[in-house]
Amino acid sequence: MLINKISGNGFRNLAPFSIVPDSKMNVICGENAQGKTNFLESLWLFTGAKSFRTNKDGELSNIYLKECKINMTFTAFEGENEASIIIKERRRAVLNDKKLSSASLLAGNFCAIVFSPDDLTLVSGSPERRRKFLDIAISQIYPKYLETLRRYYRALSQRNYLLKEIKQGRNDVSMLSSFEKELSLSGSTIIKYRIRYLKLIEEFITDIYKGISDFKESFYIKYIAVSSPEELEEKLLRHRNDDILSGFTSIGPHRDDLDFFIDELSVRNFGSQGQKRSVALSLKLSEAEVINKITGEYPVALLDDVMSELDPKRQNYILNHIKKLQVFITCCDPANISNLSSGTVFKVQGGIIEKTEKK
Ligand SMILES: Nc1ncnc2c1ncn2[C@@H]1O[C@H](COP(=O)(O)OP(=O)(O)OP(=O)(O)O)[C@@H](O)[C@H]1O
Ligand SMILES: [Mg+2]
Repeated sequence: MLINKISGNGFRNLAPFSIVPDSKMNVICGENAQGKTNFLESLWLFTGAKSFRTNKDGELSNIYLKECKINMTFTAFEGENEASIIIKERRRAVLNDKKLSSASLLAGNFCAIVFSPDDLTLVSGSPERRRKFLDIAISQIYPKYLETLRRYYRALSQRNYLLKEIKQGRNDVSMLSSFEKELSLSGSTIIKYRIRYLKLIEEFITDIYKGISDFKESFYIKYIAVSSPEELEEKLLRHRNDDILSGFTSIGPHRDDLDFFIDELSVRNFGSQGQKRSVALSLKLSEAEVINKITGEYPVALLDDVMSELDPKRQNYILNHIKKLQVFITCCDPANISNLSSGTVFKVQGGIIEKTEKK
């Protein structure tokens, strides 16, 4: 995957820009609050996923202009592609002159991984955070998964609404069946996809984890399911009465979680800061390997402020490991990337992005 050109107008604080990036390493340098993360975010949107910073599309366009357009030309699967995203409260997208019915349909055409300081919460944050990681990662390689997720969450909110209505005597229990059918059908598909995806991750993560950290311990990931795919329908039925009382669906993949283990100990509960950070980074780098394995193409890597958090040994490992990918990396202090031998440096100041030098 290679971004050949990116331009934009009206995206957050960024002044109109048009950039031809380096095919390998692009450093986005600037002081705080200048627009570095905003620029990475504009690239990320071409994966079809929502922003990694907000769920509200409207926040993405400049607060004064209220609308924006970003264009990208990229090479994927040996073909040239041109895509545009237009944001006016909601996102719309055009791919190779074809209007897409939803911007999320860009998924599978352009792939990227993003690592931001927030990702350290992948290990110790809420279960929702880990489910989101899985859902975004799987959607990128299996666009059909996104469709299944949508169906699942639609049925879930309908069932939750009905549960409350039934509790207040405004609706009948018999109405629940059709939503439970949908929940068990799409829910079991979701669980199977997630387990299959983790098997793929496991092929790479052990080695990457060893490389990234000094830890020699054995490492594995466990998917914690509230219900197996096979038992989902029956369990939903069994928990009906409790769910009516609480007004909330207690069984299904929307309650599942992941745990990471080092030598049989949960990293979430027992891990050191360094171990947690190494696990989060390993997950992201493994995600890139899985994308390559499934699609035959490495994703673009968007690394936001990652170097300042790492010791030189880890910095070196990352910089060497991602040589196979086109990288966009932000930093406040150019000294952080002094180990880099080649690439293009862009300076961001007050939303203006300028190419400065070729290293
Ligand atoms: N919709 C918007 N319209 C106008 N300005 C915005 C919008 N959204 C964010 N900004 C502004 O963009 C600025 C730059 O944000 P960004 O997160 O990209 O900074 P950064 O260069 O990554 O800084 P840091 O080094 O602190 O992470 C912020 O000051 C923010 O107020
Ligand atoms: Mg930033």
